[in-house]
Amino acid sequence: MNKRTLAALVLLCASPLFTAARAEPVAETLEIDGEAMITEAPAPKDPPGHPFDVVKSGWLYREPDTRAMEADSFENPGMLNVERGEEVWNTVEGEAGKSCASCHGDAAKTMKGVGASYPKWNAKAGKPFDIELQINACRTAQMKAEAYKFDARDQVDLTAYIKHQSLGIPVKIDLSAGDMMSWWQTGKDRYYLRTGQLNFACASCHEKNSGNYLRADHLSQGNSNGFPTYRLKQSNLVSLHNRFRGCVRDTRAEPPKAFSDELMALEVYVAWRGEGLSVETPAVRQ
Ligand code: HEC
Ligand code: HEC
Repeated sequence: MNKRTLAALVLLCASPLFTAARAEPVAETLEIDGEAMITEAPAPKDPPGHPFDVVKSGWLYREPDTRAMEADSFENPGMLNVERGEEVWNTVEGEAGKSCASCHGDAAKTMKGVGASYPKWNAKAGKPFDIELQINACRTAQMKAEAYKFDARDQVDLTAYIKHQSLGIPVKIDLSAGDMMSWWQTGKDRYYLRTGQLNFACASCHEKNSGNYLRADHLSQGNSNGFPTYRLKQSNLVSLHNRFRGCVRDTRAEPPKAFSDELMALEVYVAWRGEGLSVETPAVRQ
């Protein structure tokens, strides 16, 4: 018996990870405060080779109460974070004496659609920016304020506020800009790379086993359109990179470093996988 078979056997005996139960995601439509969201879309064709024919929102895999909570913004606890994000947007900070609003005005107008198009190539930095990095660039260069630390509360809430302005708008990123395709490729390689004691890739759970149960969790395609997402388990709004790190940690591998290129490449690739789905920020998940 080789080492790998032995490891697999030990694992199987220790804990049957994926239960045999398989369930199709529900075929319901999500309306948030009456506005219809796109929760199923034909997979993007450019570049070719998407693993699914139809991309599906994680909402379709959740329990009825969780789905209902997202459909009503009075019930959605993540909306409190969005409101906090609005306060941050209007708060003057830094030596330049400016707030986000000083330059960008009414976010409902100036930020509409912006969140749906990120990550976006930033020529000056020579890399893709997500909303979090763009916020930090504006804070340091425009406001003369300090950059937020990874996952600082204000950063997560402000990101949610900005993305919420794109609620309902389908995700579409520009892979033709700059060097985006090489980041896409790096993200793809990482997505299929097996790591950790469990020897799992992202694809092991979100592609091969999507639709199966991992213990109590109905595995989705792992799309990013709802982030930052309100997680009931954590009673808090959770950033996309936090989720990525948590998923890697669950395979008992060392999670990628905060603000690392590894996380950014994954974000580019995962955003592409879910193109066509509405931005649902702040989505509600278990
Ligand atoms: C051991 C299985 C496992 C692996 C490996 C794994 N995940 Fe997950 N992931 C989960 C579970 C369970 C959830 C919560 C249920 C769901 O939405 O699938 C989740 C949720 C997610 C979500 C949120 C989906 C939503 O709609 O809220 C994203 C995004 C995600 N994973 C990305 C990744 C990425 C990227 C990787 C690889 C770096 C990865 N996952 C590896 C198990 C895994
Ligand atoms: C002094 C003016 C100024 C302030 C203050 C400012 N920004 Fe900006 N912002 C800009 C300029 C100029 C650009 C476009 C060039 C760039 O990317 O730097 C920009 C770009 C952006 C973009 C990208 C828009 C797009 O279409 O891709 C976002 C998002 C953004 N800012 C958010 C913020 C947030 C959030 C704050 C507060 C933390 C803020 N900005 C503060 C001037 C400002």
